[in-house]
Amino acid sequence: MQLHPITGVFGAEITGIDLKTGITEAVAEGLRDALDRHLVIVLRDQHLDADQQRALAAVFGVPAVNPYAHGDPDHPEMTRIVKEADERTGVFGGGWHTDLSFLDHPPRGSVLCGIDIPPYGGDTMYSSQQAAWDSLPGPLQELLEHRRVAHVGKPYGIKWAPPVEEQAMKGSTKRGDPEADRERWHPAVLTHPVTGRKGLYVNPTYALRIEGMSEEMSRPILEQIFAHCALPEHGLRLRWTPGMVAVWDNYATQHYAINDYHGFRREMRRVAFQTEGLEAWGGR
Ligand SMILES: [Fe+2]
Repeated sequence: MQLHPITGVFGAEITGIDLKTGITEAVAEGLRDALDRHLVIVLRDQHLDADQQRALAAVFGVPAVNPYAHGDPDHPEMTRIVKEADERTGVFGGGWHTDLSFLDHPPRGSVLCGIDIPPYGGDTMYSSQQAAWDSLPGPLQELLEHRRVAHVGKPYGIKWAPPVEEQAMKGSTKRGDPEADRERWHPAVLTHPVTGRKGLYVNPTYALRIEGMSEEMSRPILEQIFAHCALPEHGLRLRWTPGMVAVWDNYATQHYAINDYHGFRREMRRVAFQTEGLEAWGGR
């Protein structure tokens, strides 16, 4: 197994292994270690079927059902992310976010397989929340450390729901759930349980307000932090190829699906996985 860093900050492409032939314990250990250190890992030309993808997710944690997406009938943990060539809506996952951070137990990470890939476009952006924390000015670090942030599931609730015509994948996601509007409190800063690195845990899609402040008072502070997280220095742009698989740490990164492939079909398959949860990362 060889590791090739993608940027000077995070992300690594792995070569020299074939995930279809079964994953030995030594390979599993190497993959977990690579994810801990690089936060996003990529393997090309794997062409995994649904069971093989699930087995890969199980290397990192327990495959988890997405409560806001309709799973595959045979593989309930599996979500198909499809945008047809003639679809004019936004794209599922467009906008910076960490997956489902408004849940009590957000998924720890995901395994995403590229099935039908447009000839160009449809890249995925990632941002290292560890790099964003490291370069955050001291006064903002002091403001956020030991503070919690309220997250709400805006796209899935009622209070902040986008107009129906703008909802990507509306047929295969669950919408209009009042429970998604309930504030869920998570630490603004998490500590990776293996590497000890700190990272921000706020994202513009779900973070609503900082503990002890109103939404209005929080907004300008959060917007500065979101802009800081999105700086190119903290980012990585992943170009998909058919059969490629990417695994990311959802507690230490944000991601963004770029919607620039009108006229082409794109299909991805995702399996999220759960680990010990935010408690192990300094959560309360
Ligand atoms: Fe996502």
